[in-house]
Amino acid sequence: MHVGIIMDGNGRWATQRGLTRAQGHRRGAQAVRDVVRAATREAVDILTLYAFSSDNWSRPADEVRHLMRLLKRHLISETAECADNGVQVSVIGRRDRLDRGLLQTIANTEAATERGSSLQLRLAIDYSGREAIERAASIHAAHPDKAFSSCLAEAIHSPGEITPVDLLIRTGGERRLSDFLLWESAYAELLFTDTYWPDFDEPALLAALAEFQRRERRFGGVPGLTLPEAGTG
Ligand code: FPP
Repeated sequence: MHVGIIMDGNGRWATQRGLTRAQGHRRGAQAVRDVVRAATREAVDILTLYAFSSDNWSRPADEVRHLMRLLKRHLISETAECADNGVQVSVIGRRDRLDRGLLQTIANTEAATERGSSLQLRLAIDYSGREAIERAASIHAAHPDKAFSSCLAEAIHSPGEITPVDLLIRTGGERRLSDFLLWESAYAELLFTDTYWPDFDEPALLAALAEFQRRERRFGGVPGLTLPEAGTG
């Protein structure tokens, strides 16, 4: 199954404790590690995490720099463990606005983990769902024979096929999609939790997966019947 997560609430988690937002993001990065480990033990095949949205560029320059440094450090420090545990890491989104050091790190991590087959971990960095669809549409206009989902994969540098999101989780109490995986989430089950991202841990992921199991998915049809999967053209 494909799980997408909007990791919100690092700043509020930190403010509540009298810490800096940067400290909140650092704790958020630790939560990422725990949740990825937990996901490899569960029935999750693809985990897409919203690490930095295209709209996040509008945050104060210091915070943007800190987030970019954190992403780079995290990719460097986790690559070996991901490779050892069959986690294939890739970064989806735009590449043209990321700095060269980060791009190099992304390339190294993607190459070192490309054979992983237990979990596909996709980090969305400089990602916008609407922009992804727009770029996919231009690619499709130039190559009308190509399936739209392949154009979308190409637009966001996603390895392999685009797969529909089954469960979309947002932490931090807001109830919106914030431009994340718009096309892929057409029939996603949405789960909103008030838990701030740094507090989202293995039991929280298990609870979310259990809640997903209780949902009845009909894909616009009638109970017991499903449509073919989205994303096939
Ligand atoms: C939202 O918290 C979170 C982000 C903008 C980015 C998510 C980044 C991380 C979890 C850290 C690094 C990630 C990885 C993959 C290592 P917020 O700042 O919007 O919180 P607030 O809404 O309480 O202000």
